[in-house]
Amino acid sequence: MSGPIIRLENVHFQYEREGDAPIQALRGVDLAIQPGEYVVILGHNGSGKSTLAKHLNALLLPTQGDVWVNGWNTRDPDRVRDVRVTVGMVFQSPDNQIVATVVEEDVAFGPENMGLPHGEIVRRVDRALEQVKMSAYRYRPPHRLSGGQKQRVAIAGMLAMRPKVLVLDESTAMLDPIGRQDILDIAHRLNRKEGVTVVAITHFMEEAVDADRLIVMAEGRIQLQGTPREVFRQVDRLRELHMDAPPITRLALALNQLHPHFPGDLLTVEEFVRAMQRHARAAAPPLFSPNGHPPPAGEKVIQYDRVGRYYMRGTPLEVKAIEGVTMHVQRGEILGIIGHTGSGKSTIIQHANALLRPHEGRVTVFGQDTRDKGVDVREIRRRVGMAFQQPEIQLFERYVGDDVAFGPRNLGLSREEVRERVREAMEAMGLDFEAFKDRMTFSLSGGEMRRVALAGILALKPEVLVLDEPTAGLDPHGREQLLAKILSWRAKGATLVMVSHNMENLAELADRLYVAARGSIIMDGSPADIFSQVEALQSEGLNAPVVTLVMQALAEKGLLPPETTRIYTVDEAASLLGGLL
Ligand SMILES: Nc1ncnc2c1ncn2[C@@H]1O[C@H](COP(=O)(O)OP(=O)(O)OP(=O)(O)O)[C@@H](O)[C@H]1O
Ligand SMILES: [Mg+2]
Repeated sequence: MSGPIIRLENVHFQYEREGDAPIQALRGVDLAIQPGEYVVILGHNGSGKSTLAKHLNALLLPTQGDVWVNGWNTRDPDRVRDVRVTVGMVFQSPDNQIVATVVEEDVAFGPENMGLPHGEIVRRVDRALEQVKMSAYRYRPPHRLSGGQKQRVAIAGMLAMRPKVLVLDESTAMLDPIGRQDILDIAHRLNRKEGVTVVAITHFMEEAVDADRLIVMAEGRIQLQGTPREVFRQVDRLRELHMDAPPITRLALALNQLHPHFPGDLLTVEEFVRAMQRHARAAAPPLFSPNGHPPPAGEKVIQYDRVGRYYMRGTPLEVKAIEGVTMHVQRGEILGIIGHTGSGKSTIIQHANALLRPHEGRVTVFGQDTRDKGVDVREIRRRVGMAFQQPEIQLFERYVGDDVAFGPRNLGLSREEVRERVREAMEAMGLDFEAFKDRMTFSLSGGEMRRVALAGILALKPEVLVLDEPTAGLDPHGREQLLAKILSWRAKGATLVMVSHNMENLAELADRLYVAARGSIIMDGSPADIFSQVEALQSEGLNAPVVTLVMQALAEKGLLPPETTRIYTVDEAASLLGGLL
């Protein structure tokens, strides 16, 4: 077939709401995707990306306009099955996609529904599990897997149907850096070698640099498109659209501002290193002053002492999730915990507010041993607020306002006080109080849910805030706002514990880091100490911030002294490298 594999013509879509004006999610989208193209869609939270994606396999039909897949109009009821086999979708949350109780059954679900013969199903399941590196988990129950592992299973389930088009709606958001790279490699390999068309939605700007075409959405429309270089060059326009450039491009642009002859539109570490080789004048190594945050010396508010914890204890499936974990949280610090998918991070932090209690060892929270019979769990949960990895799990009220108010209402505050706290917390998370308080929680975009879940925790005004992957699903603007908020809470005396795969975020914020692997803490220290150990991190499925990788590459070329690998933020790197140009 010639011509586009997917074509949208003047597509409008509105979500109807009872007793309220409908929400205009798409406002006239024209788009043609050619077979074999790799398209990345970017856009602020609520810009209509997921709504658009759902039109590509007839999960939603346009209110106005048409969508054609492989020449079939998605309105044609006789073609819905064909459309769904042609366009495979993986959504933001893996949990909603997993249907079976054993991994291999889950992956077989699609091919079985296609009525394929048994032998063919087995072959496809084998191959798909291999492609996402989950063969070793084929007999495991999916609900016991970590978020990232579930996401890989969901992707395998789709690959087993051999779709012509792969739509990934933030399917890498929960993965660790190496896991994320694995999935991207798979998508690119399927695209290049097998001609699969890929449409990927993401908030990671660096995932967009290898695409054939970038599409930037805002307010339900396509606002900007072109090759990655064309799009990322337009920094001011991107900022207006709540987007940003990848860290490498930002570093290049910062140098371009200092030295206009230095190219500002670089996309990869390799390009950057080549440009430095061309433009750096041979100069004496610059004076190097490692900066970073002074380590705070606060009281230890939470202490873990050789903590061990099993899942499914006493059953044949017993696993020891964490072992011998000794660590602490100091008042007033921003503590980062990193570790690859399944390393035990979530299990570790759930001990911080007595959600889990140790099977071995001891956790003390504000002086209370969480295993004690008389422990005041309410008190602990009031002082230690926790936001989970998947925000939608945490939303349980019908309306946004009630959801955010749930915690404060239990604190015995007056109506006015509760309302004020809810307003304050919502605004802190960039949610307009009037516009969102009466929205139904299930009807929010992924990023909007994340904001509501975080607002619900903030409204409790806890002394310690534990955030599990808090920036996943947020657009670049939202991420920047949240990071700024975190710093301002700390300035007001709050203590933060942040679990994240996003090394760039931790580079900007953390005072101290722990690295978790195989259920234990294997490294601890300042960000400079940890991030400079690039190889050790990579062998644990992690990575250093891209700035550190640049510094390391420049040091290897002899352009910088080796100790500069202790630099990890764009600002530090820009001022150091600026001196070399
Ligand atoms: N089921 C629904 N009912 C009502 N409104 C909805 C529903 N789903 C999404 N919306 C609204 O439609 C608009 C577009 O949402 P969509 O989920 O497409 O955004 P998105 O670009 O994917 O955002 P994110 O980056 O947060 O995932 C938003 O204003 C959102 O609140
Ligand atoms: Mg979305």
